[in-house]
Amino acid sequence: MEKRKLGPSKIEVTPLIFGAWAIGGWKWGGTNKKEAIRAIHRAIDMGVNSIDTAPAYGFGLSEEIIGEALKGKRDRINIFDKCGLRWDVQKGEYFYGAKDFEGRPFKMYRYSGKEGIVEECERSLKRLKTDYIDLYQIHWPDSTTPIEESMEAMIKLKKDGKIREIGVSNYSLEQFKEAISFAPVVSNQLPFSMVDRHIEEDIIPYCMENGYAILAYSPLQRGLLTGKVTPDYKFKDDDHRKDNPFFTIENRKKVLKLIEKIKPIADSHGVTVAQLVINWTVNHPGITAALIGTRNVKQAEENFSSLNFKLSEDEINEINKWVNQTVLEVSY
Ligand SMILES: NC(=O)c1ccc[n+]([C@@H]2O[C@H](COP(=O)([O-])OP(=O)(O)OC[C@H]3O[C@@H](n4cnc5c(N)ncnc54)[C@H](OP(=O)(O)O)[C@@H]3O)[C@@H](O)[C@H]2O)c1
Repeated sequence: MEKRKLGPSKIEVTPLIFGAWAIGGWKWGGTNKKEAIRAIHRAIDMGVNSIDTAPAYGFGLSEEIIGEALKGKRDRINIFDKCGLRWDVQKGEYFYGAKDFEGRPFKMYRYSGKEGIVEECERSLKRLKTDYIDLYQIHWPDSTTPIEESMEAMIKLKKDGKIREIGVSNYSLEQFKEAISFAPVVSNQLPFSMVDRHIEEDIIPYCMENGYAILAYSPLQRGLLTGKVTPDYKFKDDDHRKDNPFFTIENRKKVLKLIEKIKPIADSHGVTVAQLVINWTVNHPGITAALIGTRNVKQAEENFSSLNFKLSEDEINEINKWVNQTVLEVSY
């Protein structure tokens, strides 16, 4: 698979990256650990060279699964991990209330204090059964901690050899500019899909102009853009998509209309709509790579062969015409 430079860093990434949130199970209706490990192995065999996770993905479960899956394969893959989302301390900026695997309520906080970041990194390394993380990202901005303090922690971890590169996630342009003024940040991980392109307004142009990497998350809009989410498609009670604003009946109908329009292009290449969507996403100006949430071998085989065909300029223009006409009602 092709490789791209991760911003100003020495890391080279495949444009298709394994997204490991759903395999943590929490908020995704559970997980099947053995199947998740098989999916990671299949992705590596198909040439995927990076995997994205976070402690918050199943309260450490996603990281543990990755640790198990990468036994003997660590040198074939970059681990992108995160810090700053805490379910175990009540510090920083309150994010949202939720329930754990056992249905017990808890409060999620965004906390990026220096000692918190250093402590989280140690725990993640243990769960991942590794002694370094390739890209360590602050998961969400924490308005109660100066960005300078969070960056001090990241610089210390880099100096200590615990992390290779520093990244952020969900940072606005203003927050990103502040972060890069204190530390050698290389990337910003942000939501981007055919139906969520708000980062095109400012962050994409800035990163393109200045050579920073953008890692696009939720490129399939959490499964919505595969075409399987019909108006009567039901999610499990503990699957966050049942209440997600992108998944209203109205939005599902609009997305199905978009898919009806672009499916002939997928058909003409002998690929699925999901493959067309992924191909379009990673070839969109300014997108370095897409993190593709993958739960099983079937999805791995489909998702990670999305670059085996090339869209012509005319086809991209045709897709963009329909994408531009699809405006979902979603409030941020
Ligand atoms: N930094 C952040 O704040 C943040 C936020 C969100 C995500 N992320 C990262 O980005 C990654 C990807 O985002 P995401 O998981 O939210 O969304 P996504 O990649 O758009 O969608 C993933 C989900 O779609 C379904 N799916 C995947 N491939 C499919 C296929 N070929 N056919 C049918 N269904 C398929 C799977 O769920 P089902 O099989 O259950 O339908 C899967 O869990 C995450 O894993 C995580 O690493 C980061």
